[in-house]
Amino acid sequence: MEFIQVAKKADLSEGQMIHVEANGQEILLANVGGKIYAVGDRCGHMNASLAGGELEGNIVRCALHKAEFDLATGKNTKPPAVPKLIAASKMGKLMVNTKTHDLPVFEVKAEGDNILVKI
Ligand code: FES
Repeated sequence: MEFIQVAKKADLSEGQMIHVEANGQEILLANVGGKIYAVGDRCGHMNASLAGGELEGNIVRCALHKAEFDLATGKNTKPPAVPKLIAASKMGKLMVNTKTHDLPVFEVKAEGDNILVKI
């Protein structure tokens, strides 16, 4: 594994998240108070991109069913929320019964104007 440049620092302002790809990996970069995090950009529940979700501190919330993940550890910290009305349906049961996995965490560093991720 080696560090690969995936973005410019200017692409990621504080409080922002972006999706990048390198070596076939989909990666979510997040800037939390100037600290850069890099995790897999596929929700551990049903694979939605997390880049379109919400960032609150170092927690990212999936836009699809609101599962939450800690950007520092990749751990799933809150399960998906499926409304009761939907949970009773065939699709809802699929959503409820799909296991939520933790996210892969990538080592990340800034060098000059660049953001690099170890892949
Ligand atoms: S796909 Fe992210 S919470 Fe369901």
